[in-house]
Amino acid sequence: MTKLRIRPAVASLPRYVPGRSAPGADKISSNEMPTPPSPAVLEEMARSLQAINRYPDLTAAPLREALADRLRVAPDQLCVGTGSSAILLAALSALCQPGSQVVYPWRSFESYPIAVTAVGGQPVPVGLLPDASHDLDAMRGAITPDTVAVIVCSPNNPTGPALTFDQVSSFVASIPDSVMVLIDEAYIDFATAPGVSTAIPLIASHPNVVVTRTFSKAHALAGARVGYGIGDAEVIDAMQALLVPFGVNSVAQAGALASLNDLDEVRRAVREVVAERERVVPALRSLGYDVPDTQSNFYMLRGTGPDLVEECARAGLIVRPFPEGVRVSVGAPSHNDRFLAVAERHARRGLRDEERGE
Ligand SMILES: Cc1ncc(COP(=O)(O)O)c(C=O)c1O
Repeated sequence: MTKLRIRPAVASLPRYVPGRSAPGADKISSNEMPTPPSPAVLEEMARSLQAINRYPDLTAAPLREALADRLRVAPDQLCVGTGSSAILLAALSALCQPGSQVVYPWRSFESYPIAVTAVGGQPVPVGLLPDASHDLDAMRGAITPDTVAVIVCSPNNPTGPALTFDQVSSFVASIPDSVMVLIDEAYIDFATAPGVSTAIPLIASHPNVVVTRTFSKAHALAGARVGYGIGDAEVIDAMQALLVPFGVNSVAQAGALASLNDLDEVRRAVREVVAERERVVPALRSLGYDVPDTQSNFYMLRGTGPDLVEECARAGLIVRPFPEGVRVSVGAPSHNDRFLAVAERHARRGLRDEERGE
């Protein structure tokens, strides 16, 4: 039994649960891309190993400059960290003191309550609407004088729906400018619904907005751990001060930069995932599953649970259960076909059980 005075809030912190993996099974549980980055990206990453005896660029300046150029912001409006998880933590630790409240949608990304608690803040979850999208009115209503930040996750993990630019814009306009609006756009590249687009243009007129992005999803670099935040230069400077120095290693920086120079390939891979999503989701709905609109690289089968997870495991597929339903990542076409076959058997069995009155 340790004698160290570990903060009680840390001892009781829920642990981040990664998607399960099993030898030989195909993992469609962690919202990863089914294919690795392009050979050009992998070559740049391999080449960067030649200088691995050197520290990486402290603030990933070449990557920040390339991103700033593409996103039409200044390089000092960007910070890069070990995944957008690190950016989230830096943003929240810049703001939270004991008693600080952070409002976020729920169910949403499981890191939110963990990160808020880790930095000494008080989590304020707000339930979703029946269509599994954010209840923006209720989120606005949950803001008190102690609220330091409100998190928006669009598209929302694990349910799928995204907010339109107009929805985000009027939400931001209604939030006090002393409250950070942190907009998590981890999955924005997969969004195709009309009116859905990045919130980055809002930063120019709202210095309380911070947008977070990642190379883990569309860029297929989840293992490299690169994410970034975009916001007002003063806010970004505070976040930068809290990020681990030299945190983003040189192989990861090289991969992210190379991927930005190979956007055609990124877009092609994203189009394949979206096409598969548009094939699989209607098929599931026609089998009777309740699948909320998804603008992401995953979908949720609401009301399903451990039985479906087990049937998937027997078929060599790992999917992710949540209390609201099972979340499945869009995989390679063969994974998606196998999942559809399991889902069809599962639906038929459910119908037979209903007929027998079980
Ligand atoms: C909504 C959302 N935000 C952020 C992240 C963090 O991603 P990373 O730390 O790999 O950038 C994830 C990861 O799954 C996510 O689902």
